[in-house]
Amino acid sequence: MCGIIGAVSSSNVLPVLLDGLKRLEYRGYDSSGLAIIDQPGKFLRLRAPGKLVELERTVSANGDIDGLTGIAHTRWATHGPPTEQNAHPHISGDRIALVCNGIVENHEDLRIWLTDEGMEFQSETDTEVIVNLIRLHMDRGTDFMSAIRTSIKSLKGAFALGILHADEPGRIIGVRRGSPLIVGIGEDGIYLASDISAMIAQTRKFIVLENGDIVDINRGGMEITNLDGQVQHRDARISDLTPQSMEIGDYRHYMEKEIFEQGQAVSDTLEGRITASRVLEACFGTEADRIFNRTENIQILACGTSYHAGLVAKYWLEDAGMPCQVEIASEFTSRKHPTPNNCLVITLSQSGETIDTLTALDYAKQCGYAHSLAICNVPDSSLVRNSELVFMTHAGPEIGVASTKAFLTQLVALRLLSIVMARKDPSTAQDEADSIRELRELPANVESTLKMNSTIQEIAQQFADKQHALFLARGIHFPIALEGALKLKEISYVHAEAYAAGELKHGPLALVDRDMPVVSVAPNDTQLDKLKSNIEEVRARGGKLIVFADSETRLSSRENLQVINVASVESSIAPIIFTIPLQLLAYHVALIKGTDIDKPRNLAKSVTVE
Ligand code: G6P
Repeated sequence: MCGIIGAVSSSNVLPVLLDGLKRLEYRGYDSSGLAIIDQPGKFLRLRAPGKLVELERTVSANGDIDGLTGIAHTRWATHGPPTEQNAHPHISGDRIALVCNGIVENHEDLRIWLTDEGMEFQSETDTEVIVNLIRLHMDRGTDFMSAIRTSIKSLKGAFALGILHADEPGRIIGVRRGSPLIVGIGEDGIYLASDISAMIAQTRKFIVLENGDIVDINRGGMEITNLDGQVQHRDARISDLTPQSMEIGDYRHYMEKEIFEQGQAVSDTLEGRITASRVLEACFGTEADRIFNRTENIQILACGTSYHAGLVAKYWLEDAGMPCQVEIASEFTSRKHPTPNNCLVITLSQSGETIDTLTALDYAKQCGYAHSLAICNVPDSSLVRNSELVFMTHAGPEIGVASTKAFLTQLVALRLLSIVMARKDPSTAQDEADSIRELRELPANVESTLKMNSTIQEIAQQFADKQHALFLARGIHFPIALEGALKLKEISYVHAEAYAAGELKHGPLALVDRDMPVVSVAPNDTQLDKLKSNIEEVRARGGKLIVFADSETRLSSRENLQVINVASVESSIAPIIFTIPLQLLAYHVALIKGTDIDKPRNLAKSVTVE
């Protein structure tokens, strides 16, 4: 979703801004723009709808551009279509330029009031009210910083801002309320960005702004204050990211790279978290022991792919004797809850910045839920900072919009948690040492499953002319079918639906014909016989099935049934393994369809609006 990069430097900031925008692309956007103070008192602003290449074209057409202060933005349209006029930065009175990530909820009232006060609007965006509001206060005699403070106080919503004044080269004001904003401290300059990846080519030293912070970046350094002007102290940190870790290497897409990194990602997530026979529960935080002992039930909250990881965890946790509810984060906040006693709220998020998940966590706290645990891939993210217990998934940076390695490592984290929770209920008689052995074998099993790549590439051809697909599975693999269908629709735009196989005859069977491929996963578990019947129900109606089956199931290919063997693994880790062929299938279908795999249309990696 929208991304911000700004720079005050001792050399031309144009290359820094363009590089930053490139690195922000993964978040999802549909237009972009930049403003540079190229001479005192004057902005050069360039904006373009569409991909970044369009902005680069506009930049090239403008000849030499040179300035030491600038802000830039990738916009994911919310208020107004992705046109040049709606793209950021927005400028008021040729003096103030502003970029925003987030939403101003009371923009309609403010627009009416500002119009009555004589302000003119050039765009349909909510952002333009902020820049006009600041200018109105300045026109009435308030200085730049005070005008920003007064304006922010009248805004509702969650946002991050970068603001320039044409008469003040060398100065950028950043504001954080809700949406993430980071300050980078480099040798040649100071930077402002939505995430560290945007400025990784300049510096690894950064400060995470807290909600309510206003940073005043200038040539002398910077100062962070709150809305009332009191100075705030924030520690600088060094990021683990390197420019190399963000490189695509020999892969065609980040998604392909990230699928193939999964063996290593799983191994990194396990490292230091298990002994030969035990999960070290301190990996969930120093207070984990005390909190887990009190925990009587679990509420999982997440969105998208992370929500599917939560659904898998319900099976593991309840098998371990721990009652567990899973809910889509944006739905959790839509109603009242009877608050269960001693409930641990678990939020799952790759980015740690998904606003729906953050809002749901806040709401759970207000409702009196006892404790919180975040399972997340991004250190210093809002979710991590707002949670009592934290488990970092160590998947490494994930750039492809469609989550793959972050999902697999979330499953690993949740498996570890269910092993710990199983200790509370001796009747489940789970042998922790056996579970650990299965996890230790997991990276190798992931690697060998990835060898199915070329087989799946061939199977994907069957989807070349298809518009729809059904995914079927039972039990703990039903969420894996949901995830397989989500991957396929996200990146190949093939309409895909997943059903619990038992539901087939209650509706979706009506859709089955030769043009509706049916994909299923068949692990060797207690549900297998019932699943085999469901497979026959599809065949009997002329449906064509592609079944990824555990090699011990003795399912074999026949007319309208193509069986692809997956190496046999213990049922506890089977959902992790069966995810992989479905990821590869979606990837290869998208390759055939020629879609923009890493940046699918209309989608965003980091969803920072509700
Ligand atoms: C977006 C992304 C998905 C992701 C979801 C939740 O929709 O496109 O890939 O699963 O957000 O994101 P999170 O960062 O909270 O896991």
